[in-house]
Amino acid sequence: MLSPVVQDALNEQISTELFSSYNYLAMSAYCDSVSFRGCAQWLRVQSQEEYQHAMKLYDFLLARNGKVVLREIRAPRVAYGSIGEVFHESLKQEEEVSRRIDSLYELAFKEKAFAALVEMQWFISEQVEEERTVRDIVAKIELLKDDPSALLDLDRELGSRTAEEEADEAEAAG
Ligand code: FEO
Repeated sequence: MLSPVVQDALNEQISTELFSSYNYLAMSAYCDSVSFRGCAQWLRVQSQEEYQHAMKLYDFLLARNGKVVLREIRAPRVAYGSIGEVFHESLKQEEEVSRRIDSLYELAFKEKAFAALVEMQWFISEQVEEERTVRDIVAKIELLKDDPSALLDLDRELGSRTAEEEADEAEAAG
């Protein structure tokens, strides 16, 4: 049985992941509104992935006989000045999520919640990947920002991301 403090922290993380999902959806809507439809597609798939992260924690809590207590989710930012700003926001968010996952891991360790530790290991690896992916996109946009045709190529490249591919990769990773 998970201690109340670990359950509370897991519930908090569920709301963080759901906010991430909501925030990515708002970023996607902005990109669509300025016709960067590839970026919009990439961010929409990322929004779905964040929802899956929330559900992974939700299922874990239930499997450990914990209580799911859903919280209020604040409204995300909707106004951006450029796609560069969008991906900077995304990187900031991923770095914040990584910090929170690290804290959860530390708490699970202190509380001797070993099953939660194993669960958190998956999230730690996932954050390494997510931060790296977004950091690469930020670097590319920074490099290409004065070259509209190269930016459009990048938009096309990002638009090839699909939810099905993500699901296959997640399955392959176990
Ligand atoms: Fe679920 Fe991108 O953190």
